[in-house]
Amino acid sequence: MNTRLPPLMKAVAAALATSAALLVTGPLQAADKEPISPIKPAKVTNPAMVELGKKLFFDPRLSRSGFISCNSCHNLSMGGSDNLKTSIGHNWHKGSINSPTVLNSSMNLAQFWDGRAKDLQAQAGGPIDNPGEMAFTHELAVNILTSIPAYRTEFKNAFKKEPIDIDQVTLAIATFEETLVTPNSRFDQWLVGKTNALSKDEIAGYQLFKNSGCVSCHNGPAVGGNSFQKMGVVEPYKDTTGAQGRFAVTGKDADRFNFKVPTLRNVELTYPYFHDGAADTLTQAVTTMGRIQLGRTFTADENAKIVAFLKTLTGEQPKLTLPILPPSSDNTPRPKPFDN
Ligand code: HEC
Ligand code: HEC
Repeated sequence: MNTRLPPLMKAVAAALATSAALLVTGPLQAADKEPISPIKPAKVTNPAMVELGKKLFFDPRLSRSGFISCNSCHNLSMGGSDNLKTSIGHNWHKGSINSPTVLNSSMNLAQFWDGRAKDLQAQAGGPIDNPGEMAFTHELAVNILTSIPAYRTEFKNAFKKEPIDIDQVTLAIATFEETLVTPNSRFDQWLVGKTNALSKDEIAGYQLFKNSGCVSCHNGPAVGGNSFQKMGVVEPYKDTTGAQGRFAVTGKDADRFNFKVPTLRNVELTYPYFHDGAADTLTQAVTTMGRIQLGRTFTADENAKIVAFLKTLTGEQPKLTLPILPPSSDNTPRPKPFDN
């Protein structure tokens, strides 16, 4: 910009430049000017650890029952979620909150709806000793793994030290989870210039998503996951779970009913929606969001277009070979699927 312009003129020129940029929409515009950016493929730097983490993610022996693995509630055949309103844990325990997807979870500013875990490794220890989930202890989980010779070898190869400890377990799981990204969705193809990747209705849906203000909370590569926001900005949300959101972590009144904005990547696969799983369909979720976050009632046609856009956010799912888990040894403690 011309540095000799007086400040006011500079401000006007800057404003004009911005509004001109806003008018240029669509694929002609560089992807980095859109509020949503493409997902980058995962870079695997430690394949041995990823492979070990994958086994642990699928291993039900990390639970008291010997039946529940991370994949039970974050099913990688179903978008990394369980498609239930709230999860089922040990002893058919009714979970208190909807299970978020593990796909692209490495992009979250923190983990859990209320952000109480700072990262994936901190999160991964949680479910193992949660009585309502895997109902085990970290010590018992480590004992099980140590009793399995092939795991001892794999841990040694990945960490170059012995014995196995819970930090290695959670780090391996987190390292595996970092590979669970979903690049190359049709929307991302469009963002990087493939004009015909989206239909007219899908583009119209994206414009509505931007222009009505959804992007103020759902933005960045994960289309969410990067801030805590109030659920019910314009109109209160009728919660059915008693969850307090971020307030439970900070104790600050201002954080009451603030939740981590969920990623909208693969949202077509991760129904039902919201922390209480109260919205069964995307149509319902969009209606609720419009009304309670933005004070806006969409027509059926507008809603359908937004839903059509949201479905273009489904990316390439991680291509996994189902891991074959090493067998228990004679010394491996046996599972307790029933408490009596
Ligand atoms: C019984 C079901 C269940 C099991 C088993 C389970 N989870 Fe979860 N997971 C949940 C629920 C429910 C939440 C949300 C809890 C909350 O936010 O308070 C969650 C949250 C998460 C999150 C945070 C995602 C986000 O966007 O905030 C990650 C990551 C995750 N789980 C990974 C794992 C891993 C790894 C394991 C295995 C060690 C595991 N889960 C086992 C149900 C389960
Ligand atoms: C003020 C911030 C904000 C705005 C604006 C906003 N959202 Fe949300 N959105 C959230 C939060 C927070 C949640 C999770 C709330 C919860 O479950 O407690 C959410 C959840 C969702 C979900 C459910 C995702 C899931 O996995 O459960 C969808 C779909 C969604 N929003 C779409 C939209 C659309 C479409 C718009 C625009 C009409 C919009 N949002 C506007 C903050 C916002």
